[in-house]
This record gives sequence, structure tokens and C-alpha cells, in this order.
Amino acid sequence: MLYIGWVRSVRPQRANLFLHVNDGSSLQSLQIVASSELNDPLLTFGSAVEVTGILKKSPSQKQPVELEADQIHVVGECNPLDFPFKIKERHGLEYIRQFPHLRCRTNAFSSLLRIRSEATTAIHSYFKENDFVQIHTPVITSNDCEGAGELFQIEPSKSENEEDENFFSVPAFLTVSGQLHLEVMSGAFSRVYTFGPTFRAENSQSRRHLAEFYMVEAEVSFTQSLEDLTKVMEDMFRSATEHVLAYCAEDVDLFHKHVTPGHKVSPEGHLFNFGTYPGSLFLITYSEAIDILNRSSEKFDFSTHWGCDLQTEHEKYLVKHCGNIPVFVTDYPYDLKPFYARDNEDHPQHTAAAVDLLVPGVGELCGGSLREERLDLLRARLEEVGLEDTYSWYLDLRRFGSVPHGGFGLGFERYLQCILGVDNIKDVIPFPRFSHSCLL
Ligand code: 4AD
Repeated sequence: MLYIGWVRSVRPQRANLFLHVNDGSSLQSLQIVASSELNDPLLTFGSAVEVTGILKKSPSQKQPVELEADQIHVVGECNPLDFPFKIKERHGLEYIRQFPHLRCRTNAFSSLLRIRSEATTAIHSYFKENDFVQIHTPVITSNDCEGAGELFQIEPSKSENEEDENFFSVPAFLTVSGQLHLEVMSGAFSRVYTFGPTFRAENSQSRRHLAEFYMVEAEVSFTQSLEDLTKVMEDMFRSATEHVLAYCAEDVDLFHKHVTPGHKVSPEGHLFNFGTYPGSLFLITYSEAIDILNRSSEKFDFSTHWGCDLQTEHEKYLVKHCGNIPVFVTDYPYDLKPFYARDNEDHPQHTAAAVDLLVPGVGELCGGSLREERLDLLRARLEEVGLEDTYSWYLDLRRFGSVPHGGFGLGFERYLQCILGVDNIKDVIPFPRFSHSCLL
């Protein structure tokens, strides 16, 4: 048998040489036993090897099998003096973050990457099992779905002639959300979703914002109820997390024990406690949230009043106030929400049918709403903000077979932060992009 991987430990003894070699498929390294004649000074922590030998049952309980090696070939040397990670040392996430090109070789980050991969599979499986059609929404777009102006504009780096200067003939941007393209598809499919990279030019160094992040977005047609959306959010969260716990038990355990001790996710734990569905979700309205915040004795950096945007500190307080469990906040002020949010037509406090999911440790994990499907109301709002021409195609969706519908977006990195208890979003994405940093 041929086994390939990277050396994680070297233990030479008088008669035998013991190595642990890891190929990235799991946290478990394979124990290699060889005659000490096969020892080689190039066999160091981090070196890449090819080993041939016979798989045997191991005498140790922990290591069910070991490879009795008859040949060890060092494919790639690794000078341990220069290598930033040291054998047997546990390096913190902040330390390994300095080496984006090497950190996948640590136990903590390789576990994170396997969890990330498995969570991705779980999310796709959830949608498949629930009859959603996956749509590849474009990365390049000419719209600003959120209207917040946090756009990266794109253009060719060098134009050979003048005409190329405006490559698309219209301003083009990296997408901030695939929602509007999903809404197009909602005219023909009752359930659609997309899961891909999303870009925001937020000049923020916060622990929960990136310039490039992955968003899971779903759109459900033929619904007039925010509960239909909160149900999908909750079910997706549960099913993805159960899947991760089942398929990445060892990797999650490493986080619980060594990387983020004190944080634990389990089906019995607080993160799964969304209340009993249907009927008694932990769901408060924005107005109730403002009341809670105004009554609190906590000193906030940002004061609260009806109409204000909820800041991270407010979101975290609300989660704590409700018992450190996931909380849905609904019916935000109409003026805070983008043009697509459905008007609740209420008074005197004018709200839109929008919902955010707030979770422990992170704050906002999902943002969603019912969409304004009524042509006259949508047209009036677009006129108000001077976007009627830009979104004439969007108005068309309301002209031809329009149905009540709604959807939401979940920040995938924030989801990983939430289930693993990771404080900084830069530690849950392979190559973090944020203002003043685009390494590699
Ligand atoms: O609340 P947001 O802005 O919602 C939308 O973009 C909707 N169009 C989605 C939809 O309805 N289809 O973003 C959704 C989620 C947030 O709740 C947050 O978790 C995450 O995306 N998010 C970010 N994650 C990391 N870095 C950033 N800069 C993020 N901005 C938003």
C-alpha cells in the first residue's frame, strides 16, 4: 500500500522509527512504524512523504491501524527552523492567521476547512431534500440589490482601445446579493436557492464583516407569511448543524476542547433552542426589541429609539436577554429596509415585513423579508427613490404572473462562527478579504 501525506510527528527509538503522517482527510494521522534504518534527517515535522508498506491492526486502542513501512521517500523537505509552526505546540487562531499560505497545515485550520466543506454539503443537501432548485446567480451584475452603495465596481485592468473602457456599456459591479436574480427565477420555480461568493465594499475591520463572504440565499413563492421563511431558516440551521456534528465529530471536538474552549454545540444545547415550531418561536417585533433595549440598564455606545438601525451591541444584548438562544426580530421600520421589502401598511409606526435572525456570539446571522409583490406599491416606492427606470425589469416581474413571495440570506462565515464559537470571521474563511488586506 502507498500512503502519502505530511509528517506531523517523528519519534525515533532504538529499533523502530514512529511517524504520524496526515493526508488532510481527517484529524487522525496514520501511525507509521519502520525500522530505524529508514530514519532520515529530512524526515521532519512538515515534510511531505510517500510511504509504502502493509496496513496492520495497531496494538493501541486509539490508533486502530498502523502502517508497517518498508520504504519512506521524502518528497518535499521542510526546514523546521524556518517553518512558523512548531511540533507539539498549539498555536492560536490569531497567530496562524498571519500565514494564510501555510495555516491549512495546522490541526485547527484543517479541521475548520473540513467542517466548512461538510457544512457546504449539508446546506446543499437540505435544499435538495426540500425541493429547492439551485440557481447560479451571477457574480457580475449591474444592480445594487441592497441599495447601500457598498459596491465594488469592475472594469478591465487595461484597455487596448477606447471602446473597451466601458466593457459592459453600463457600470458593472460584483454582486452584493443574488436576491433579485433569485426573484426572477421565482416567476417560474416555487422554491429556489443560491450559495456563492458575495462582495461588499464595507470599510470595516470588524470581527463579523468581510469584503468577500459566502451567502446562502433562498426564495420561496406563494407565501404571505414570515413564518414560512423563519421555518426554512430554522430547519436549515438545524439540519446543517446536525450534519456537521455527525460527520465532523472529531473536528468539532477539537474546537470545543482546544480552539474555543467553553463553547459547545449539541442538539440539546442553546443554539438548537429555537422554541417549538410551529407557533412559539422566539420571535419579537422590532418595536418590542426597542422597548427591551430602552428598558435595559446596559450602557450602549449607540443610543436606541424607534427608527434606529440595530447595532451589533444591541443584537447581542437582545440574544442575551432572550436566554442566549436564536431570536427572530420582525417588522422593521419601513424606511430602514430596501425598496423590495413588503409594506405592512401600518400606522403610526410604519413597518415592512422583514425578519432578521440573531444568534449567540454573532448577532445577525440571516436577513430576509417578504417582497413587495403589488405593482402599484412597488412602482411608487421605486419612483420615490428615482429607480423606476433602472428596475423596469423588476416591475415586469410584478406584471406577469406575480405571486406573494419572500426570502432571506444567511452569512455562511457567520454561521461557522456561531456553531464553532470563533470570535473573528477571518478565521473561518480560507483567504479573508477585508479593507487594506488582500493577501495572496
Ligand atoms: O442582511 P443582508 O444584507 O441581506 C441581503 O443581502 C438580502 N438581499 C438577502 C436576501 O434576502 N436574499 O445579508 C444577509 C446576511 C447577513 O445577515 C449576514 O449574516 C451576512 O449576510 N453578511 C455578511 N457576512 C460577512 N461579511 C459581511 N460584510 C456581510 N454582510 C452581510
